[in-house]
Amino acid sequence: MNTYLSGIQSSGLIHLGNWFGAMRSHIALQEVEGEHFYFIADYHALTTSRDPEGLKQNVREAAVAYLAMGLDPERVTFWRQSDVPQVTEIAWMLSCVTGMGLFERAHSYKDKLAQGVKPNVGLFTYPALMAADILAFDPTHVPVGADQKQHVEMTQDMAASFNAAFSAEAFRRPEPLIESDERLAKVVGTDGQKMSKSYGNTIWLFETGKELKKAVNQITTDSRPPEEPKDPASVLLFRFLELFLEPKELTEWEGRVREGGVDAPGYGHLKARLIEVIEETFREGRERRQELLGDPAEVERVLASGAERATERAALVRDRAMKACGLR
Ligand code: TRP
Repeated sequence: MNTYLSGIQSSGLIHLGNWFGAMRSHIALQEVEGEHFYFIADYHALTTSRDPEGLKQNVREAAVAYLAMGLDPERVTFWRQSDVPQVTEIAWMLSCVTGMGLFERAHSYKDKLAQGVKPNVGLFTYPALMAADILAFDPTHVPVGADQKQHVEMTQDMAASFNAAFSAEAFRRPEPLIESDERLAKVVGTDGQKMSKSYGNTIWLFETGKELKKAVNQITTDSRPPEEPKDPASVLLFRFLELFLEPKELTEWEGRVREGGVDAPGYGHLKARLIEVIEETFREGRERRQELLGDPAEVERVLASGAERATERAALVRDRAMKACGLR
């Protein structure tokens, strides 16, 4: 039987990149036979958050977004990372068999340094906590965006180092499950870079009305007039439209833009269609989000029951690891 596990870091409102790159496939996978574990990585968010109220709110929004978009807590064990302390215990054990060099080679860490972030130790050892998140549940598959593939490979390395160091089978090797659809693998932001909260180029999943219009208007365009024939690949708006439109409709728009002339749609037309289709796609989810925000006790109940199930499982693995290395 396959076991699927993944997490989402709660460092902002859930945006289109989180949705298409991760959350959507997590929710779709619940239909597949097997065990399912998904959690909100609030300890990971603490590597950058200095806003207690904001952190709480981001965790709540992430939980609500999963539930509003259809995660079924009966089929999926769904919890908040910090409710399962065995994970941080395992992270410590893993960090004791991991060389500094492994952490130094992490792309996401190097990217942060390149952005001028002054790293704290938590940011540096982030992969050990992530490895513990994964290994604590013996998953066979870890569905993640392409940007997280290296972290899953580091998890494989840490598991192997621990097992080798203590000649034991304490941890099982998981495999990353990477989205193969290029469009979904790298969702771009309003400036054409990867959509990411740290670049300030996101569109929130549940945005609507005036605010949505404002967000879509941020998408970079150029000054070429509608009549000028254009390669659709040179129009950033198409990177968004292709996430939502049926192939037939998409091809039509692309054809008209390529053709140019008096009947060609301008950027304003493309934006209007994008706004419409975002509103439509997430309408039900938006309504369900409103209901859930009005019932915080229900959300807490779901997370607490998930944490209980997750703790049982993680305790087994933690005990296995403690025995292997002689702590017990
Ligand atoms: N690092 C992941 C991200 O930024 C979130 C995450 C934390 C995660 N722990 C995990 C993903 C374990 C998969 C498995 O998206």
